[in-house]
Amino acid sequence: MGSIAVCPGSFDPVTLGHLDIVTRGSKVFDKVIVAVLNNRNKQPLFTVEERMELLRETTKDIPNVEIDHFNGLLIDYVKQKNANAIIKGLRAVSDFEYELQMASINRKLDENIETFFMMTNNKFSYLSSSIVKEIAKYHAPVSDLVPDIVEEALRKKYAFSN
Ligand code: PNS
Repeated sequence: MGSIAVCPGSFDPVTLGHLDIVTRGSKVFDKVIVAVLNNRNKQPLFTVEERMELLRETTKDIPNVEIDHFNGLLIDYVKQKNANAIIKGLRAVSDFEYELQMASINRKLDENIETFFMMTNNKFSYLSSSIVKEIAKYHAPVSDLVPDIVEEALRKKYAFSN
């Protein structure tokens, strides 16, 4: 069996920062499954299907990347996929505490699944889906932050607001 990593997140929507992590991860692992969390506690801008479609479109040139979604605990999903790793991007020190907690609890739940962190490319260190939505909501350009089709999707979502 080859190495399979799950790259989990909300991806609401996918940014150039996410794609940097997925692309680099795809060079290290035999397969990367980008898994969109269907989180009922959050009020997302894009539906799970829309988020998956944007991910499919923006990763279509990377043959070993697969797009999926999950509910519930990440570790259960990782096991169900026969994956042995979780990959995450770290942007700044502020990410560290939360990610340490997540990686520790996931290791406690299953010590055979390892979490790998990649330092985000410096040019995306300030970037998050929330920041992108905040900018797009007021119709300012986000072309340096997200792929073109994501910018277009944001434009449509916010067309009649503000
Ligand atoms: O993009 P996000 O919202 O920062 O991603 C967070 C995500 C999806 C990685 C995290 O919330 C997660 O793994 N959720 C699944 C529930 C879970 O397994 N929690 C950890 C154990 S309590």
